[in-house]
Amino acid sequence: MDFDYDRESPFQPGIPVSPDRFSGRQETIKKILRYVNPVIKGQTQHFFLTGKSRMGKTSVTDFVKDIVGSQKGMIGVYVSNKGNDSIETLTTWIIEALVNELPQKSRLERIKEWFGDHIESIEIKGTKIKFKVDETLAKSFKDYFPDYISEIYDEFPDDRKNGILIIIDDINGLSKSREFADWYKKLADTLAVSNHYNLPVYFLLAGYPERFEALVVHEESFGSIFHFDLIDCLSNEEVSEFFKATFSQIEMEISDEALEIMVAFSSGLPLMMQQIGESVFWMCEDNFITKKEATAGVINAAYEIGSKQIRPVLNQIKSNNYEPILEFLAGNKMNTFKRSDVKDAMGISDNVLSNFLSKMVELGILESTGHKHSGTYEFSNNLYYTYFWIKSFEKSQIEQ
Ligand SMILES: Nc1ncnc2c1ncn2[C@@H]1O[C@H](COP(=O)(O)OP(=O)(O)OP(=O)(O)O)[C@@H](O)[C@H]1O
Ligand SMILES: [Mg+2]
Repeated sequence: MDFDYDRESPFQPGIPVSPDRFSGRQETIKKILRYVNPVIKGQTQHFFLTGKSRMGKTSVTDFVKDIVGSQKGMIGVYVSNKGNDSIETLTTWIIEALVNELPQKSRLERIKEWFGDHIESIEIKGTKIKFKVDETLAKSFKDYFPDYISEIYDEFPDDRKNGILIIIDDINGLSKSREFADWYKKLADTLAVSNHYNLPVYFLLAGYPERFEALVVHEESFGSIFHFDLIDCLSNEEVSEFFKATFSQIEMEISDEALEIMVAFSSGLPLMMQQIGESVFWMCEDNFITKKEATAGVINAAYEIGSKQIRPVLNQIKSNNYEPILEFLAGNKMNTFKRSDVKDAMGISDNVLSNFLSKMVELGILESTGHKHSGTYEFSNNLYYTYFWIKSFEKSQIEQ
């Protein structure tokens, strides 16, 4: 068996991209950076970044953390709130993350001094300390959050006092109740009106667009606290730049025709782009990517994404007639379509079509758009659309 163990892919499908491989999103990044200087001068700022699933929210926050750390010397902490709906837990995680930024030798001492008997357990994992606190302290973290942050910040050596970036990712679970919106509003108001704090903290929250909207519905003025941006698909230029830059880091060149195919089938989806890069990388065994290798890579990418994210949903469909309809739609670029268009073009009965549409809506693959009886539908997630587009492309390649 001849295998080159040293050949490593620079692509990262499925995990947030590392800052040195991050591509595009310049407008969003600049918008976030606008408020860094005011923060460093002591004005707390709040930014809410939204985007649909897999659109690259975590990657953006990590990239921002990296640049404000290296360019401005800010302390950055990242907290994933995934699966959590308790403010006490969230504030505990943030405080834990901040304590872990203190000089290593004083960390344990400070934790014991500050939290004393309220600590239930302490674990040291590598260079990080994880602790569990009792209910009384967790409640106090929530109620006196700015005081805790302030006290920890004071503990940093003067040369590190260049402000703090606190990233709260996956805000999702917390958006369900009014409590978080109220708590956050109170926090923002306290920090804004009280000269006493003068805290150079930048809060960067990230979550799905509908979660931000839910929070605004709970508390009208929640929205006004934040600077805001929504990230959507990358442009074809950004995707093209990403492929060129990433392949050139490992001294691989892409033919124009290959690049065109890879960019088109990425559909601006960062995850698809990463998977296509990964698949093409393994398809190509020399340093020059041809059209043939790019085509094979794109098809392979659909299989990879398909088996992990799409097949589990599709396997709930019992009928064999439905996938060809989805392929037909995507193959004909009918991302949004009218019921009558499919019926006429495919010659299927009303009954089959109705069953198809209701099953697809139930599975979340399609959604009805426009007014109630418009009979207009669209793919609810571009990943599904792109998957079926590639499946139909694959068939057209075989037929050729
Ligand atoms: N700017 C970018 N440059 C290169 N790759 C990116 C970029 N943004 C995202 N990606 C890639 O896209 C995929 C999804 O990114 P990420 O996990 O950041 O998205 P997300 O919006 O946080 O997803 P989720 O909704 O699951 O939390 C990952 O494979 C990541 O490597
Ligand atoms: Mg994420």
